[in-house]
Amino acid sequence: MSPSAPKVYVSRKFHFSASHRVYNPSWSDEKNAEVFGPCSNPTGHGHNYELEVIVAGTPHPETGYVIDIAYLRRLIEERIISQLDHRHLNTDVAFLAGRIPSSENLIVAIWEQIQPLLPEGVTLVELRLWETPRNCFIYHGQKA
Ligand code: NI
Repeated sequence: MSPSAPKVYVSRKFHFSASHRVYNPSWSDEKNAEVFGPCSNPTGHGHNYELEVIVAGTPHPETGYVIDIAYLRRLIEERIISQLDHRHLNTDVAFLAGRIPSSENLIVAIWEQIQPLLPEGVTLVELRLWETPRNCFIYHGQKA
């Protein structure tokens, strides 16, 4: 991207419902209950998550697009949302294996999944993950 090229951010919001239990398997049930409270109840609980994916790039001279947003929607729905929606995050999602499924860990894992999928010239700049309408988690990836 040349310095004078306009950099435009494109955002798309996604939805998924999933259950989880915030639980550290190396701790006793008592310690989990003490640290995580009801979030660690043995049978778990659910959230209606919202995920906002923000990418950036320069509009292509032939299309005017940074990325075809319909393509972005399909890509994220088919490769990411389908693995999360109506799943149990502790047991059902391969890319979360071995991680405590807090929203912090979830947003980092989602970033790792999305970044390699994006076409040349399109940069993943931000993810926003709402666990509830009031609780939002934001990630910009690891800075080199
Ligand atoms: Ni929760």
